[in-house]
Amino acid sequence: MINIRPFREEDNDALLNIEKLCPQGNEEYAMVIDKGPDITARYELYDNWEIRVAEKDATAVGWIGWTIKQGTDEPYLYIAEVMVHPDHRRQGIAVELVREAERAAAEVKASHIYSYVYEPNEAFMNLFDKMGYMREKNIQVISMSAYKKEDVKAGYELERINPEDIHEAVKLLNDYYHGNTHFTPFSTESFRDYAEKILGYGLENFIVAKWKGHIVACAGLWDTSVLMEVTYTKEPMMWKFMTNTYGILRHFVSMPRIPGEGEVCKLHSIVDHAFEQEHSHAMEDILKYCNNLMYDTNCEFFGAYTDPDDPIIGIMKKFKPMYEKLYLYAKPISGKVPDFNRMHVDCRDTIL
Ligand SMILES: CC(C)(COP(=O)(O)OP(=O)(O)OC[C@H]1O[C@@H](n2cnc3c(N)ncnc32)[C@H](O)[C@@H]1OP(=O)(O)O)[C@@H](O)C(=O)NCCC(=O)NCCS
Repeated sequence: MINIRPFREEDNDALLNIEKLCPQGNEEYAMVIDKGPDITARYELYDNWEIRVAEKDATAVGWIGWTIKQGTDEPYLYIAEVMVHPDHRRQGIAVELVREAERAAAEVKASHIYSYVYEPNEAFMNLFDKMGYMREKNIQVISMSAYKKEDVKAGYELERINPEDIHEAVKLLNDYYHGNTHFTPFSTESFRDYAEKILGYGLENFIVAKWKGHIVACAGLWDTSVLMEVTYTKEPMMWKFMTNTYGILRHFVSMPRIPGEGEVCKLHSIVDHAFEQEHSHAMEDILKYCNNLMYDTNCEFFGAYTDPDDPIIGIMKKFKPMYEKLYLYAKPISGKVPDFNRMHVDCRDTIL
């Protein structure tokens, strides 16, 4: 008999242990995430959150976590994770957990629920298919390795943001993401509060590029390893092939690196990027600057989660990245699923 109840602090270790047994993916391609030591740390990035634990004979066997966000008109709910212990799968526990989120969404008259599915995670996709969610969008996941120093020489002034310049960066961000679904324009104060609330980010990691004294590009470099460590437990054949090829070529020229199977990766994320279209070199310079910071501190892997039509992808291509995908699944609750044609990816959602 399954009982679903609110999270209690003493669940922490049990849930972390379950997550370690829960690679997301299939037999050929999967990753496992370690969010130790605090399962709730990733939820503290949001204004509100809820975890419901499924227990069997008073033992935690799974959980779901979500946050409710305020849209321009109506609230909507993001399902951050659903995990079920491998010994208790295919008994309908995940269905019951997702129903909990749907009830919470209905209570606040949320327009819709959305969630991300890592591309090889067929079980999670089938779960959403079964429950009437639709795959609305592919999100591009781009991972780069800081395998060599880059020359930053396009002539822009690069600096960590000066608090007096925040309003200018906010204007650039608001213009860049104007009209994108799930984007709520920032004010100077709201951007400061948001960046400072995110562990491993903060305004000291927000870089701007100036041209003639004006900000024309910006991005944050977020150390997500303070919230999660990622290990690929199974890698696609193509990656293994590339690892071998790059390994041979590395004797002659510097080549990007691909994480090894079983290697614990501490990742950084490029977040809140924006640039004026005629200053794409400024964005490129910021990426090079971040690359060099990573290189100098022996942190190898950094990346971004973006709308596939975001022009930053063309710039990131130059860094010989690896590409993966997340699928956005959504379901209407008290309103409609919005048009995801062009959307803003909330970086806090990418702690998978
Ligand atoms: C995805 C997951 C949560 C499903 O949990 P579960 O309790 O076994 O799921 P349910 O028993 O409620 O299954 C509901 C439906 O999902 C689909 N499904 C679940 N597991 C599946 C699998 N291994 N293969 C294919 N479809 C699957 C099926 O359609 C299933 O309905 P059915 O049993 O009538 O065929 C679980 O496999 C898990 O914890 N995976 C690892 C963690 C993860 O990837 N979480 C999602 C990202 S945070």
